Amino acid sequence: MNNKTKRTFASDNNSGVHPEIIEAISSVNQGHVLAYGDDPYTVRTKNLFKNLFGSETETFFTFLGTGANVLGLSFLLQPYQSVLCAASAHINEDECGAVERFTGSKLVPIPTTDGKLNPDMLQDYLHGMGFEHHAQPKVISISQPTELGTVYQIDEIKALSHFAHQNQMFLHMDGARIANAAVSLGVDFKAFTADSGVDVLSFGGTKNGLMYGEAILFFNSSLNRNDSLKYIRKQGMQLASKMRYISIQFETYLVKEIWRQNALNANKMAFLLAEKLSSFDSFKIQYLVEANGVFVQMPKTIAEKLQEHTFFYSWNETESIYRLMCSWDTQAEDIEQFIQLIKGITHSYNVE
Ligand SMILES: Cc1ncc(COP(=O)(O)O)c(C=O)c1O
Repeated sequence: MNNKTKRTFASDNNSGVHPEIIEAISSVNQGHVLAYGDDPYTVRTKNLFKNLFGSETETFFTFLGTGANVLGLSFLLQPYQSVLCAASAHINEDECGAVERFTGSKLVPIPTTDGKLNPDMLQDYLHGMGFEHHAQPKVISISQPTELGTVYQIDEIKALSHFAHQNQMFLHMDGARIANAAVSLGVDFKAFTADSGVDVLSFGGTKNGLMYGEAILFFNSSLNRNDSLKYIRKQGMQLASKMRYISIQFETYLVKEIWRQNALNANKMAFLLAEKLSSFDSFKIQYLVEANGVFVQMPKTIAEKLQEHTFFYSWNETESIYRLMCSWDTQAEDIEQFIQLIKGITHSYNVE
């Protein structure tokens, strides 16, 4: 494998674009169409999202996942309100404070053992409701799958949406890897989003074979009072002029079920990787492997040696936990090479 074909476990963002997506982009690269989303491809793809998620669904394409999260949340919040999220949430850890900056709202990070929230842990955070000295909880934001590679079951999502709605709050879902969750649960997207009480969803695809672009989906059109999201998106710098290149990617991804084939592969490879890593006594898999991420504790010396050959991220320095991500294009041979590398290193260190 040369550098051009080398695949690593650093991130599913490091993988390339599925060839059929590249073809789809080229196929619309002719002639002029209206800009800013008034082109026929965008109209068609928005209708496709209505077919998949329900006729009330309103879709807004953005450039980035961070953009989708920030705009989706901005729309639900006043600056005096807050968002309850897992401490490990991407909006809390990895968006450079973008939600706070653009919404003016406070994020309330909640420690979890596996990246998941549940109503019991949230109850305590509502004690300041109605008290003017406290930011008012208005949104529960969950990631599906979580940043720790775990997946919420449908009942868990329903319990959270019920809790949110009982308390006049909204449920937001960061679905940057939503396809990996769908194949893990073995259900269609609608079952664990619109049908489970999610109000606003960031629907991602970049990590699973798209070139760029994400979608914000609102399941209740009455939420989009005065059509305000279109203004928020423009102010938020996420309105693509040449939107046809985003929408054609989503249309192809959904119609040809590229999302399914890619996510099935990434998840399958993660299970295989976890299984192989478990055979080393000094390696301990952390959290359930339910999507395409594997978190493993290993001796720091081994990890550092491995990183000299192939890059991957350290997740928790203190506990020596590392994150390994499988992608739509990960192959069994990549795992085999990684395992052989580990064998060589553990052998020379005399640790198994
Ligand atoms: C859980 C999650 N949400 C959202 C994002 C979106 O990020 P970006 O703005 O880089 O597209 C990511 C990317 O790593 C992510 O892992």
